[in-house]
Formats: sequence, structure tokens, C-alpha cells
Amino acid sequence: MKKIEAIIREEDFDRVHKTLKQMGIVPMTAYPVKGRGVQGGVPPYELMPKMKIEIVVKDEDVEKVVNTILQNARRDMPGDGKIFIMPVYDAIRIRTGEKGNEALY
Ligand SMILES: Nc1ncnc2c1ncn2[C@@H]1O[C@H](COP(=O)(O)OP(=O)(O)OP(=O)(O)O)[C@@H](O)[C@H]1O
Ligand SMILES: [Mg+2]
Repeated sequence: MKKIEAIIREEDFDRVHKTLKQMGIVPMTAYPVKGRGVQGGVPPYELMPKMKIEIVVKDEDVEKVVNTILQNARRDMPGDGKIFIMPVYDAIRIRTGEKGNEALY
């Protein structure tokens, strides 16, 4: 299992969300954040509003989720965002006690 954290433009979130849903990647955590990359924000604001998406996925789904985010959030402009991928030790669905991939989606 891997956790994919993507920080993207607010205006790209609906499209990313809808496309992931159509692919069967339904569960996610998403919330508004403020951040900056290399360039910083538009003065006087150093931090700009972005959306953050967190999805824990099966190893076999990492590539298609990353590609979907790239296809729907890339504008070839500074500030398009960033994707981080990290290993996840385990997942447990509280209602059933299922573990690992079975607990994801
Ligand atoms: N190294 C980082 N650690 C944590 N968050 C980051 C990091 N880099 C970027 N972010 C987050 O991603 C958002 C978008 O970053 P951004 O796309 O501007 O990255 P960048 O490295 O400056 O690339 P670009 O040159 O394309 O703008 C930031 O507002 C911040 O929330
Ligand atoms: Mg930047």
C-alpha cells in the first residue's frame, strides 16, 4: 500500500476527483491548505490556497492514480502542484476489522 498526497490547484480538484471516482478509486481525504513552492505566492501573500488530496491505494494502482492527477492538474505552469508517494504499513476498516488491501476500497 502507498499513500499518495497531491497538492493541486483548487480549480482542478473537481476534475481530478470525478475522474478518480470513475476509475473506481472512490475513497479519499481532501481539504484546503495553504502552501508555497519554490517561487512563493503573489505578493503580499507568500502562501497560496491549494487543495490537498490524500489517497491510500494498492501498489498496483499507484501509477494510474498518479497519471490521472497529472492529466487533470497539469497546466505546464508554475504552481501546478506536487505529488508525494509514501509507503503505508497497514490499513484497518474499523467497521469490519478487514486489513491491508481489503480495507481500502
Ligand atoms: N517540498 C515541498 N514540501 C511540502 N509541500 C510542498 C513542497 N513543494 C511544494 N509543496 C506544496 O505544493 C504546492 C504547489 O507547489 P508548486 O507547484 O509551486 O511547486 P514548485 O516546486 O514550486 O514547482 P513549480 O516550479 O512548477 O511551481 C505548494 O503551495 C505547497 O503547498
Ligand atoms: Mg512553484
